Amino acid sequence: MTLKHNFDEIIDRTHTNSSKWLKYPKGVLPMWVADSDFKCPQPVVEAVTKLAQFGVYGYPYVKEGGFEKATVAWCKRRLGFDVPEDHCDYVPSLGTALAVAVKAFTEVGDNVIMQSPIYPPFTAVTVKNHRNAIYNSLKLVDGVYTIDFEDFEKKCSDPKTKLFLLCNPHNPTGRCFSREDLERMVDICCKYNVVIFSDEVHSDFVYGDHKHVSLPTISEKARNQCLVGVNPSKTFNIAGLRTAGVATPNKKLQEQYQAALASCKLGRNIFGDLAYQICFNGECDYYADQVCEYVEGNIDYAVKFIQENIPGIKAYKPDATYLLWLDCKGLGFKTQEELDKFFVEECKVGLNPGRSFGIEGDLFLRMNMACPRAYVEEGMKRIAAAVKAMK
Ligand SMILES: Cc1ncc(COP(=O)(O)O)c(C=O)c1O
Repeated sequence: MTLKHNFDEIIDRTHTNSSKWLKYPKGVLPMWVADSDFKCPQPVVEAVTKLAQFGVYGYPYVKEGGFEKATVAWCKRRLGFDVPEDHCDYVPSLGTALAVAVKAFTEVGDNVIMQSPIYPPFTAVTVKNHRNAIYNSLKLVDGVYTIDFEDFEKKCSDPKTKLFLLCNPHNPTGRCFSREDLERMVDICCKYNVVIFSDEVHSDFVYGDHKHVSLPTISEKARNQCLVGVNPSKTFNIAGLRTAGVATPNKKLQEQYQAALASCKLGRNIFGDLAYQICFNGECDYYADQVCEYVEGNIDYAVKFIQENIPGIKAYKPDATYLLWLDCKGLGFKTQEELDKFFVEECKVGLNPGRSFGIEGDLFLRMNMACPRAYVEEGMKRIAAAVKAMK
């Protein structure tokens, strides 16, 4: 019998040192960081509880290979590509995975290309490692973000450009890139020998007719040019367990990546290792499917509500991710700071400032829909009331 998860359950997280719930003052409803408010799957809760109760938390035996087998199984089952076990590496997080990619495939002073507006750590891991972040800015046309391929090719053709950090699906715009778009990106990267790191952490949240296309499924050329970052953290809400994976069909890329990883001497977390394997081995697929359906309901509710009740905000349904990317230019604020202040102090809803994702995000806000429906309803009510009171 398939398990059924209750995503409507309200869970008080304020006493658990939750980043999401402690950042904003009391009384502000937090709908910012990409962390869901759902309890994680019951098989994970039970296994982690059993291990916690055991009371001895020594080093895990990594040669046992459970992590690698689970990664291979996930890549095959959910992403659709084959990868050998010894082409899979542990990383504590996708943030770390991106930083290691920068170290592995570029030198100080090289360029790393990414598509802005973009999840801020893409820029941070680049510039903090003294590389240049260069942006292929996505163009917003009638609510759809499109790729400027001429600009993408020009920037990839610069001999200093060695790495493309692809966010697939894309955070914050919610774009699920089509196979054709990905093929063109792959062709250009292969032409100029730019390695692609495809961050696929949001791949379970895809809506309507859109389909997630994992990069190695594009072609043999793509398989040879890319690495894929995977993490059960978003889908199953286990980000605090800090366990993620990087897989590539290309042995040479894996060796180069592993050399950079080895220089960091990262150790594994036994709770994270356990939860990762349970999530990726198939036992929790029921949850992945149900959470996507539930979140899509939240998104549909919020987009309709905004379109009908808050004329100053433009909301479009994302193709993918559990994030709404709200164009708030119509509210009349002159700066992002004024907009942020209004949301925290008047609406009492805590969102991510759009500007933190790059210049294109100015006067936007990012809103997280991975929460019980009651929070979405409350958040919408608060925003609508505060906007109404402005006039
Ligand atoms: C695209 C993307 N990559 C990586 C991460 C962070 O993942 P981790 O917690 O594994 O560093 C996030 C989290 O929001 C994300 O949206």
